[in-house]
Amino acid sequence: MSSVNTDKLSSARFAQKTDAFVEIFTASVDFDQRMAQEDIDGSIAHAKMLYKINILSESELKDILSGLNTISEEIKQGVFNWSIKQEDVHMNIEARLTDLIGIAGKKLHTGRSRNDQVATDIRLYLRSEIANITDQLARLQHAILDLAEKEAETIMPGFTHLQVAQPVTFGHHLMAWFEMLSRDKERLQDCCKRINIMPLGAAALAGTSYPIDREMTAELLGFSRPSNNSLDSVSDRDFAIEFTAAGSLIMMHLSRFSEELVLWASAQFDFIDIPDAFCTGSSIMPQKKNPDVPELVRGKSGRVTGHLISLLMLMKGQPLAYNKDNQEDKEPIFDTADTLVNSLRAFADMIPHICAKKENMYSAAKQGFATATDLADYLVRKGMAFRDAHEIVGLAVRLGVDTKRDLSEISLGELQKFSAEITEDVFDILKLEGSVAARKHIGGTAPDTVRTAIESARKDM
Ligand code: ARG
Repeated sequence: MSSVNTDKLSSARFAQKTDAFVEIFTASVDFDQRMAQEDIDGSIAHAKMLYKINILSESELKDILSGLNTISEEIKQGVFNWSIKQEDVHMNIEARLTDLIGIAGKKLHTGRSRNDQVATDIRLYLRSEIANITDQLARLQHAILDLAEKEAETIMPGFTHLQVAQPVTFGHHLMAWFEMLSRDKERLQDCCKRINIMPLGAAALAGTSYPIDREMTAELLGFSRPSNNSLDSVSDRDFAIEFTAAGSLIMMHLSRFSEELVLWASAQFDFIDIPDAFCTGSSIMPQKKNPDVPELVRGKSGRVTGHLISLLMLMKGQPLAYNKDNQEDKEPIFDTADTLVNSLRAFADMIPHICAKKENMYSAAKQGFATATDLADYLVRKGMAFRDAHEIVGLAVRLGVDTKRDLSEISLGELQKFSAEITEDVFDILKLEGSVAARKHIGGTAPDTVRTAIESARKDM
């Protein structure tokens, strides 16, 4: 076979050279070289397995391992010569291996196809990215816990419909974000269970006639087990869809978090200060300090959801088994991972420096009759039906609106005109501190309950 045209895959079958533009159009090496180390790791495991089943000799295995090691170094040092003539990361590495060690390099692909190879590489890649994402997520959760602890007693208005509803503690509000991120972390871990299954051995689609030991390769690569069906192994990318779905939820949460930070940092709310290091100025308005980090994160959530939709659309029309369509999975996967790591990192860096403006939060909670429900509950405790209490408090609120006073500023005598049941002790519950302290059941906003929630969250981390 000395006349083989090494420029082209399966070249002996082709009479014509590939069209120059088609070569560029179909190549993936510009982006899939990101999985080079995973590709090398997969090849090392595969070669060791081929040696065990007597397809490679000891010296061939040695050559392959040392050649792959050299390639890994060349890539790390940035001296590896990537070429679109070799189409993708897999062919580039294999061709370089053959350059380096000769005939043994050509034996590496025995019992394997790029179809099971690429599916394996992506799974290895995602496994390690999920570890990076989880690290950043945990950093952010720790930052939230620290801030929540500091602000366990800080009173702010809680909102529904973005209207002042009831007073809450800032610590409690922060712990809501902690809970969302905990579920996000669980989703990633759960999706990782299905990612960590090994396709290698499925070969092109039907498996291979060599007596391969898939258990061995799976163990070498740290997979929980080999996959069950060769056709499924090379074709489905549901694991990547799950990853981008979990990623979309993380970004959706960060986007909502961002929205609140942006609102709170505005002059109209003025609840928090975002430190200068996380803001930028305006090129025209000298007074501006813009909350760029949360705004950008809010914006970036869109692209991750976009990747989720891309992958769903990529998959939905494909017959079994592998199709070239699947090459389009890489960029959405890579960009999802990058966006998650970077957004979580920016948040984890920023949250410890968020400064609560307690007085502003407190006076905002005093506007909007945030303790009206407490007054109704008070009347219920005195024996009134809740609907009647609701009616009476409505009248008291109307008086407050008309006379521009909070419920706690209306005199006892005036309140008693609405109900004779009201006595001096009403002012304990009309105060914001009394309102939050009363909500001390599991999941409530009372400062002590928030401290307990933080403590148990720390134990679970
Ligand atoms: N670059 C390809 C991909 O990303 C690798 C697998 C190609 N296999 C094939 N039979 N053309 O999916």
